[in-house]
Amino acid sequence: TILIVDFGSQVTQLIARRVREAGVYCEIAPFSLAEDAYRRMQPKGIILSGSPAGVPEEGSPRVPQILFEAGVPILGICYGQQVMTHQLGGTVEAGSNGEWDGEFGRAFITVTEDCALFDGLWSVGERHQVWMSHGDKVSKFAPGFEIVAVSDGAPFAVIADEKRRFYGTQFHPEVAHTPNGARLIANFVHKVCGLAGDWTMAAYRDTKVAEIRQQVGTGRVICGLSGGVDSSVAAILIHEAIGDQLTCVFVDHGLLRLNEREQVETLFRDHYNIPLVVVDAEERFMNGLAGVTDPEAKRKFIGGEFIAVFEEEAKKLGGADFLAQGTLYPDVIESVSFTGGPSVTIKSHHNVGGLPERMNMKLVEPLRELFKDEVRELGRELGLNDQFVGRHPFPGPGLAIRIPGEVSKERCDILRKADAVYLEEIRNAGLYDAIWQAFAVLLPVKTVGVMGDYRTYDHVCALRAVTSVDGMTADIYPFDAAFLSRCATRIINEVKGINRVVYDHTSKPPGTIEWE
Ligand code: XMP
Repeated sequence: TILIVDFGSQVTQLIARRVREAGVYCEIAPFSLAEDAYRRMQPKGIILSGSPAGVPEEGSPRVPQILFEAGVPILGICYGQQVMTHQLGGTVEAGSNGEWDGEFGRAFITVTEDCALFDGLWSVGERHQVWMSHGDKVSKFAPGFEIVAVSDGAPFAVIADEKRRFYGTQFHPEVAHTPNGARLIANFVHKVCGLAGDWTMAAYRDTKVAEIRQQVGTGRVICGLSGGVDSSVAAILIHEAIGDQLTCVFVDHGLLRLNEREQVETLFRDHYNIPLVVVDAEERFMNGLAGVTDPEAKRKFIGGEFIAVFEEEAKKLGGADFLAQGTLYPDVIESVSFTGGPSVTIKSHHNVGGLPERMNMKLVEPLRELFKDEVRELGRELGLNDQFVGRHPFPGPGLAIRIPGEVSKERCDILRKADAVYLEEIRNAGLYDAIWQAFAVLLPVKTVGVMGDYRTYDHVCALRAVTSVDGMTADIYPFDAAFLSRCATRIINEVKGINRVVYDHTSKPPGTIEWE
């Protein structure tokens, strides 16, 4: 196994992901718990993460000294490199001293010496693109180290002590902007640490099942299903761990896609035999949404109402000790405090379920460290079919944020039909998997049209389709004109209430994927 010591970098989870991709099990421990983690895990290698802190800053975090004395290979990334240098007898200088303002973004390094990290990857004299993000820099490396790669701004782009098997990179090999960075990390875990790379999602599943059992004990867990991949995978995994101590609750808020409720019922009740309560709350949500047009007000209402419905159901079930959620890593930004630690601040992306303090339950979030594609792989591992795990993401507030202006049952019904036609065309064209997310939007705008000999005056439907890796940035999907015409014709012919269809050509940024 690999121990990753977290100093609070925003991309620590990416390091974990790269190690998993290399087929090696890893655990992340905040620096303040790293010594315990080390003793417990007896890792074959250690990676030190980056940090928003600076080594010269008073009170900035340190590596437990025992990790340097363990005889285990260490890879320090950015802050990790600097803190290692500092603790082993080198010098790190603070940035902005007049001559030096740091290196941020794309940079190039030149390989100056062979190094185990570069094995089969980079050779002496080659230049390679990397991603830098540092203000401080190493000005004198520690005894035993030598420089193996330099950049224009940092003579210590990569340092190595081959005898102790300690390595430091000033750049971030874990991010996608360092092409080959993943292979560099793979070299560290395979070639330097000697780990085989035979760890799989099946092993992850076993680890998580054991963890959930440990966390939950004999407690009762309630899980809100959304119909999406994340909450489904979380629920199935938790059910595997604790069986019928888990009850799933599916709130039909009337903002779902066509037939979605039936699909959830079939999958959970019939296929997985998981206790499922379906709450028909459509009227309640529609009443509450009447007259609400402000996007944030809609989101707040839906989030709050969701929790209210949940609390009621939890009460009816006789209470629950834990709330399970399919929160993924990108939904969460975890930061470790520099002084005390590990104090964790959670910033929720949108309203990930709401989560107000008034819910008096602890959280079970078994997917917290995974990225979307890893959750899909885990879903397949748990027996979900490709079509299900490949489903496009669907937001918690549902169709409400795809109906600018006031939401009503009638509008939801119109949108559901248009959306289903659009997605059927996408599937028929074999494009579904090439698209990150595709959906129809119902505009509160009416336009004049002519159908047969009649004048029509109906809603505009906008179609949206984007490609993306993580939902953070997105590009529009470039359908051909014939495809869009086919969708427009079918929607106008088959969906009463829509007489015009437009295609949204906005990337993210500046747009968001959803319309509200
Ligand atoms: P935006 O619209 O911010 O969306 O570009 C990025 C991704 O997040 C999804 N999304 C949500 N997911 N609750 C969720 O669970 C929400 O409130 C929410 N809002 C947006 C959106 O569908 C896209 O995949």
